[in-house]
Amino acid sequence: MIPQSFIEELKMNSDIESVISSYVQLRKRGRISTGLCPFHSEKTGSFTVYPESQSFYCFGCGAGGDVVGFIRRIENLEYVEAIKFLAQRAGMNVPEDAAEDKTALLKTKILEMNREAARFYFSELTKPSGKAALDYLLGRGLEPKTIKHFGLGYAPNDWTRLTDLLASKGFRYEDMVAAQLSRKSEKSGRYYDVFRDRVMFPIIDLRGNVIGFGGRKMSGDGPKYYNSPDTPVFKKTKNLFALNFAKKQKLERLILCEGYMDVIAMHQAGFTEAVASLGTSLTSDQCRLASSYVDEAVLAYDSDEAGQKATKRAIGLLDEVGIRTKVLTIQDAKDPDEYIKKFGGTRFKKLIEQSAGSVEYELSKIGKKYDTETPEGKIGALKDAVGLLAEMKNPLEREVWAAKLARDYGTTKEGILTQVQTKIKRRARAEGSRAISGTAQQNTFGGAVPEKLKNPASAAAEERLLGAVLRHPETLSTLSTKVSPEDFVCELYGNFYRKLLTTLSTGFEVSLTLFGEDFTLEQQGIIAKLAHLAREHQYSAEDAFEAAKTILRLKEKKTDKEIGELSGAELAAYIEKMRKAKK
Ligand code: UTP
Ligand code: MN
Repeated sequence: MIPQSFIEELKMNSDIESVISSYVQLRKRGRISTGLCPFHSEKTGSFTVYPESQSFYCFGCGAGGDVVGFIRRIENLEYVEAIKFLAQRAGMNVPEDAAEDKTALLKTKILEMNREAARFYFSELTKPSGKAALDYLLGRGLEPKTIKHFGLGYAPNDWTRLTDLLASKGFRYEDMVAAQLSRKSEKSGRYYDVFRDRVMFPIIDLRGNVIGFGGRKMSGDGPKYYNSPDTPVFKKTKNLFALNFAKKQKLERLILCEGYMDVIAMHQAGFTEAVASLGTSLTSDQCRLASSYVDEAVLAYDSDEAGQKATKRAIGLLDEVGIRTKVLTIQDAKDPDEYIKKFGGTRFKKLIEQSAGSVEYELSKIGKKYDTETPEGKIGALKDAVGLLAEMKNPLEREVWAAKLARDYGTTKEGILTQVQTKIKRRARAEGSRAISGTAQQNTFGGAVPEKLKNPASAAAEERLLGAVLRHPETLSTLSTKVSPEDFVCELYGNFYRKLLTTLSTGFEVSLTLFGEDFTLEQQGIIAKLAHLAREHQYSAEDAFEAAKTILRLKEKKTDKEIGELSGAELAAYIEKMRKAKK
């Protein structure tokens, strides 16, 4: 735990405008500054920095928070890491307890060893014993400068070369094991290299650290690739191979593929926005990571069945984080690497330009599944297509695709849309309330405030109260005697309020910074938005008290069913109470 007093001091030394302006070109507009949002691609400046409250908010994508939140997003860091990052910038030392000190030390050691290992593997390529590996890479069409750029290498066919080297540099055996570079033999108790006789692919994070390796064997059986298991510095599911290189440019989209070699071949051919998940299928963490850079991705998975399955899965996952997808159809080659080798980069570029949106891709698959020359085939295909359209959330989009289908299958758009509606209703009924909250999520704050749907009035009052308090923290102590977090209908809002009350008791300043530690980035975006709305509507202190009254009144208000169950006396008392509360 980093003491709040340190964070306060750090915040004083990390002016949000000056921090952000090293990432975003800001223009002063009166008391605020605006610029192009670094978290989504846009042409108008929706990204706003408020020096007074030391916060930022983007109208376009809803990202928002304080200076720590900004650094977390843009540098892809955990909370504590972001604090350290800012502390370094401000020239301050983060107070740390001993345990934390120890893991931090181990992490540093592992990164040092990884760097040594990468250097060692790379240098092995130029030795006679590494000639086969070098020939292998060249034989796969890689140019020497590509090999160097990616820092590829060779782990020699020996048992202890790397372990010995690391030991000679003073590293401890236990640390080598923690780095997953060495293992201890049960029998002899000696330590030996994990990677042997493999072509090596270093995995580099966004800050340029070597965090792990992939190793490919050149022949023989057994698994083709071996990847470093997770270590204190490496989480497979949270990193994307080559994002460190892709990130160096202004990104419009990412190309997602399956393998190391695909990424490298694409980069060599000029597609430096290619990245891959690392020996696992795509994870939602990786999608979230991608979503801080782009809102579009081209899926360039293998053309085999497994690749197609993975594509479908990826479309869903990417959709959840708001990334639009296009799908590359690779024909006459098994993956992008092979395609580029066979047909060249120019043809690959065409392929990318022609890559269909995910709907087109699904529709063409449906078309292929049936014999659409026959009436039965046509009906089958249309039925599948209606199912697909029913999954679309945007009615306009449904209409566009219905029109296209009508043309393709010689039927009417209206007919198709009627079927789609029937399907949607049927599905909603089947899924019950799940479907309702699904649509609600789009126009509220994601899934973060699920209660909002059924209690719009309470939610609105809670939002107003929070917004007003952020503008007028002096109201908090009086408010605390009137309304408590348990009175809130929306759990998240109640938690925000509770956090504010705790702050009050510890005497710290009320600001968005408070929400950094206990709340996710999405939740911080929500509180930033509430702060923004309060500014926009110029909420007064009075609004906070009004909102508190509304919250209490709505809480007292019973549902029709509950009223039906009241006795006569209870009912009279209830009506009286409502009447009073209204005043
Ligand atoms: P592929 O089998 O498609 O290999 O695996 P590739 O990338 O085309 O490799 P080359 O062209 O034969 O060299 C795709 C990815 O799946 C992971 C690796 O990350 C690989 O790049 N993988 C594959 C493993 O982790 N282990 C394996 O044994 C195989
Ligand atoms: Mn391949």
